[in-house]
Amino acid sequence: MASKSTSRTIERIVRGVATSDGAGVKLTRVLTQDLQRRLDPFLMLDAFGSDKPDEYIAGFPDHPHRGFETVTYMLEGQLRHRDNHGGEGVLGPGGVQWMTAGRGIVHSEFPEQDHGMMAGFQLWLNLPGTDKMCDPGYRDLPAATIPVVTTASGVSIKVIAGESQGIAGAMTRTATEPIYLDLHLPGGAAFEQSLPQGHNAFIYVYDGAVTVGDPNGTGANAPRPVQKGEMGILANTQEAPGVAIGSQAPARLLLIAGRPLREPIAQYGPFVMNTHDELRQAVTDYQAGKF
Ligand code: CO
Repeated sequence: MASKSTSRTIERIVRGVATSDGAGVKLTRVLTQDLQRRLDPFLMLDAFGSDKPDEYIAGFPDHPHRGFETVTYMLEGQLRHRDNHGGEGVLGPGGVQWMTAGRGIVHSEFPEQDHGMMAGFQLWLNLPGTDKMCDPGYRDLPAATIPVVTTASGVSIKVIAGESQGIAGAMTRTATEPIYLDLHLPGGAAFEQSLPQGHNAFIYVYDGAVTVGDPNGTGANAPRPVQKGEMGILANTQEAPGVAIGSQAPARLLLIAGRPLREPIAQYGPFVMNTHDELRQAVTDYQAGKF
């Protein structure tokens, strides 16, 4: 007799693809285009991390976006953002920049350093069709403004978006209700996060290793390991109220979830709309300097 599952399980493990973007910044594309449907409303996740200036110094010169949001989370290093709507800021360690491209923004992102470590993530979060042409904007969320909670078992949770342990995160988005947590588990820790039923969810382990699943689960519900550099897509297990994550040694990971938009996704590079006509319009508008 199958017992009721108390945790979502790992549906699939994905290793990212090594690539480069901007003017030659080396990075790992963790969430690739073929996973956009499965992980709706998320369109992309890049992980970058290098102490070799050659691999990041060229940065991301001026480029456009339309139709979605970019969420950049720095672990180490400094990145300067500048956009054509007068926005400018330096993103430092532990800080987040939440940029809404809306109907169009042109921006650059350059390292504010010529040596040392540069590490972090960029997540692309889709906007519903009704919001794709909204006013562009961005919010800098310095590390000190992002709530951090520590559980009784010593797990530190940085609540970038959504809610964890009753603590509201730094950002709330109504259309997709994203949850974005940076979790630091000491060795031998257990952690549980509730997740809304319909949310698509995944973890990305960037340090150490964790196990995902009901600690008492057996067979298909047995906890499954996820190693450093791996994304674990969480099954949308109907009856599971959330996810249980455990560690044997210290580990760090992102836990990201959101309500799917279930709309057509049309992407042409940095433009993400619902239809090909809208993509053509984006290119025309950009070339006409309307961003
Ligand atoms: Co950009």
